[in-house]
Parts: sequence; C-alpha cells; structure tokens
Amino acid sequence: MSSSEQQPSTGPPTPAFVIDEAALGTLVTRFQKALAQHWPNSVMSYSVKTNSLPWLLSYMKQRGLWAEVVSDSEYKLARALGFAPERIVYNGPVKSRALLRSALCSGSLTNLDSGREVRWAAELAREKPDLDVRVGLRVNWDLERLCPGESTVGDKASRFGFDFENGNLGEAIGELTEAGVRVAGLHMHRNSRTSSPKVFQASAAVASDIISTLGLDLDWLDIGGGFFGSLNDTELFDQYISSIRATLSGVVDPGQIRLVIEPGGSVIAAPVELHAKVLDVKDIGRQRFVITDTSRVDLDPLFRKSTPFDICAEAAVQQTHPEQVIAGFTCMEDDRLMVLTDYPTLSEGDRIVFRRVGAYTMAYGSSFIEYPPAVYLRRNDGLLSLIRPRGEVEDYLQSNHWRDSLPASSTGSTAIAAS
Ligand SMILES: Cc1ncc(COP(=O)(O)O)c(C=O)c1O
Repeated sequence: MSSSEQQPSTGPPTPAFVIDEAALGTLVTRFQKALAQHWPNSVMSYSVKTNSLPWLLSYMKQRGLWAEVVSDSEYKLARALGFAPERIVYNGPVKSRALLRSALCSGSLTNLDSGREVRWAAELAREKPDLDVRVGLRVNWDLERLCPGESTVGDKASRFGFDFENGNLGEAIGELTEAGVRVAGLHMHRNSRTSSPKVFQASAAVASDIISTLGLDLDWLDIGGGFFGSLNDTELFDQYISSIRATLSGVVDPGQIRLVIEPGGSVIAAPVELHAKVLDVKDIGRQRFVITDTSRVDLDPLFRKSTPFDICAEAAVQQTHPEQVIAGFTCMEDDRLMVLTDYPTLSEGDRIVFRRVGAYTMAYGSSFIEYPPAVYLRRNDGLLSLIRPRGEVEDYLQSNHWRDSLPASSTGSTAIAAS
C-alpha cells in the first residue's frame, strides 16, 4: 500500500471529497447502455463544468465519453487532458473569435449561442470557401409553457440561444447559409426542477417542430444535459432516451442524425461524498450549534439550499437531540448547512458524511478562509487513493505574481508622474 492509500475503515482525514469508483462506473455504464439500446448513433459528452477534476475528465475519456465545454479555458483543459478536437462539444455564450475559428477548422462539434458567433462563423466560411464549416445553434425554448413548474427560472426567460418564435433562429440560419456555413445541429439544453422524462419529450418535440418547419437536414441533435441520476432508479436513463426517440421518430432518421447528450450531475452527483468532522458543539440560548470543518462554500457554493445532500453521522452517543444546527467553519453567519431534528447527538470528533455532492461543488474551488478539501478515490478494491491533496498556502502563493508589482521601497517613495 503506497503512502497515498488508506484503509477504508479509517476514512480519509477531513475535510475531503471521496469519489466512489464503483458508483461512478455504474451510472456511466447505465447511460451508455440506454444510448446503445435506444439511439446507437449517439455521443455521450461529459459536462466539464459540472466537475472538472482532471482525474474525472481522464476517467470519462477512458470510458469513451467526449468533453462538453462552455468556455475557452474548458476547451484548453480538455485538449490538455488529451481529448481530440473532434471529440469536444464546444458550447456556451462566451466563445472567443480565435478559439471558435480554430474549433470549427479542427472539427469540434460547435453549437453557437449568440449573434457575434454567427457573424464570426459566416466570416470564416467566406474567407475559406473550401472549408466545410458546420455549426449547431442553441435554441431558446419556453420550457415553462410546455411543462409548467419545471423551469429553474420560473416564468422568466432563459437567456441562452436563439428564439425560434420571434424569428431570431430563422434569421441566424439565413445569415449562416448565405455565407456557406452548413447548419448541422440544434442544441436544446434546459435545466428542470424534476426528473420527469416529459421535459425531454418537450425538448424533442420543439426540435421536431423546428426541423419540420424550417426543413432542416441535420447531422446532430444535441439534447443537452439536465438529466437526473440516482443509483437506485435503474430505469430513468432508459426512460429519458426512449422517450426522446419516440418523440422524434417519424421526423428524423436516428440512423442518420446523431443524438448528443451532455450529462453532468446525473453521473457525478451521486458517486461523491464529503467527509467532515465536528470541531465544536455549543449551546447558545435554546439553540445547539455543531461547528464542522466543512462549509457551504464546499457543499452549496451557490447558496441555493436546495443541494440534495444526505447526512450520515458516526455519532458516538446514540442519544438524540431535538435540534442541532450544523454550521460551517467560515465566519459568515449564514454558513449553516442544515438543521437536524431529533437526530443522534453529535459531539467533537464525530465524522459526518454528506452524500451526493459531486456536482457544482468542488468545481467552484473556493479559497475563502480555507483552501479546497482533498479528493480521494474509493477504488473498486475498497482502498482510498489520494487524487488531489488539500489546498495549501504554498499553492495559493505560487499562483500569484505579486512581488514584482510591489512599490520599489517600503519607505513610501513610490514614483509619481509630475503634473
Ligand atoms: C449547455 C449545458 N450542457 C450540459 C449541462 C449539464 O447539466 P447537468 O449537470 O444538469 O446534467 C449544463 C448545465 O447547466 C449546460 O448548461
């Protein structure tokens, strides 16, 4: 056993994320099987932003997934980790002109999101008439109208993509086609509040309507991410892909058109735990506070409070306490993780394991007050191996170049331009 491995019974030093390799493998395989069964001509492209840990991206690459990126930095990260350009799905509203041109020239599956990207793609096609410039367009569609209660922005509009109903999508297609760009795909991503496959039926129905109305001949239909995933629900991925297929059959030929999916949370949320320790317990008035060595900056960085985490405490004493406020290590009053009612009484040194916390947590990598927790892999043989050590002051100092910009001397004689 190497020094970075630990016996599972001890658990890792806290705070630490633990990725369960078996659980991750189960979810990835389940989605791959659903695609193989219902839409074999498909691409599973892992949403890098959801959790961009290099180990994870390399794991996904080994499992045959592509990388779905939404910024130039993510694109460069995927390339640095060995994803070929043609196995990268390049999305997002903030592409640079330079990288967009390079991605289009090197065959990345690219979905445009804004007018300036349409302009840049058209410009490229005019400049290089022999180049086969193909793009997809992100569609802005009204999820809330089709599936009431499902939109994460309620009845407010989503800001991504092109509106079909007000004519913007058609205009973008016109501008691209005229310049010699082939509009080869539609990108339908939306997030929803529930795991209902009806959201994906609605998405496929909108795509189907656009394809028929505009007479599009597409290479890909990118249905996006936004799926839910649970280790216990073995049917869900099948239901998603079979309902997408059923909605589109008769409109497109699944043998000709590639279905692209961009799962993030559905495959990486459930396999990850965060191990924390109780640092202190104090009673203030009628309230009991349990202070831990983790924080909302690690568990719920967007402060949505809807992060679905479970708690599993190894409480030493099996008595219960009516109300315990679990709090983080930061100095923020609202760094409260949850309130436990009639739960085993926690005391200093107890380990708390938060479950299903792999999505949109560690990717935010907060350096607020403390540096990011370590990450361990619980391997298939049950041993833990260290994937990323806990952040240290040295790491923070290394990423800053402040010395050269300090005033020349500390005596206050900094040069000031004469007026
Ligand atoms: C374009 C796009 N694709 C994929 C995803 C991944 O979504 P999820 O983690 O819900 O699967 C997102 C997340 O919002 C996204 O914006």
